[in-house]
Amino acid sequence: MPYDAKSQGVEKALERVRDSWKMRRKDDDDRKSYDEVFNKQNLMRIYKLMTDGVVDKFDFTLSTGKEGNLFRASTAKGEFVAVKIFRTSTATFGDMYKYVAGDPRFRGVGGGNRKRLILVWAEKEYMNLDALHRAGVRVPKPIARHQNIIVMEYIGDECEPARQLRNVDLEDPGKTARTILDYMRLSYRKAYLVHCDLSEFNILMLGGEPVIIDVGQAVHRDHPNALEWLRRDLNNIARYFRKKDVEIDVEAELKEITKP
Ligand SMILES: Nc1ncnc2c1ncn2[C@@H]1O[C@H](COP(=O)(O)OP(=O)(O)O)[C@@H](O)[C@H]1O
Ligand SMILES: [Mg+2]
Repeated sequence: MPYDAKSQGVEKALERVRDSWKMRRKDDDDRKSYDEVFNKQNLMRIYKLMTDGVVDKFDFTLSTGKEGNLFRASTAKGEFVAVKIFRTSTATFGDMYKYVAGDPRFRGVGGGNRKRLILVWAEKEYMNLDALHRAGVRVPKPIARHQNIIVMEYIGDECEPARQLRNVDLEDPGKTARTILDYMRLSYRKAYLVHCDLSEFNILMLGGEPVIIDVGQAVHRDHPNALEWLRRDLNNIARYFRKKDVEIDVEAELKEITKP
């Protein structure tokens, strides 16, 4: 038998991904993640990220969402990262297409092929993270992307991931609201983006400061629906903060964000 170092390396690494994961398969969520995500194709893609030195092992499931699974992982140096793996099989593609079609950055991307759409979606989330980060919006810093897998800054501390805004008691709700509105303005004016799914679910609180996440659906402000979706985002934020006795004038904010 010829010795094939490369394929042996691959097999070993795949085993390592599986093993490091199996040891931690403690609850139903983890089991579900394992079955959905750790197929041969994704394992090969994870292997590539391992050989690139981007991740070393998977620690635990952060979330099993509708489009993708999120994990905390560690690098060889022991630094934490977050890994988002978009599912290529599960059937929730219905909404995705409208956030791609109409975005001038993705002109000509057809909606027919699901595998292709998922790759475009992952690329879009990565590009959006990068643009927002560069515009000064607090988002997880993008680290790497390979096909349907995104690696980004882990938002949390040693013990636990940061909580969603909806699960946090705010010390100064007015200040948090102001920061979020500032990020919406920066997104629009500097990154040319509208989030399109902004709410207390997609904002994490780290050290008392909001961090905007889940930016895959964010569209270029020239998208024909951009204004409508910006107003929807503002309404979500206003609705949430009204419960905290903070009033947001949606139309005034909309005007301020989009003024020429
Ligand atoms: N960079 C991150 N660091 C820590 N936790 C994260 C990170 N990104 C996402 N999460 C966790 O995973 C959940 C789902 O992530 P999200 O990007 O909103 O995907 P979905 O499309 O499933 O809503 C978030 O609500 C948050 O709790
Ligand atoms: Mg989300």
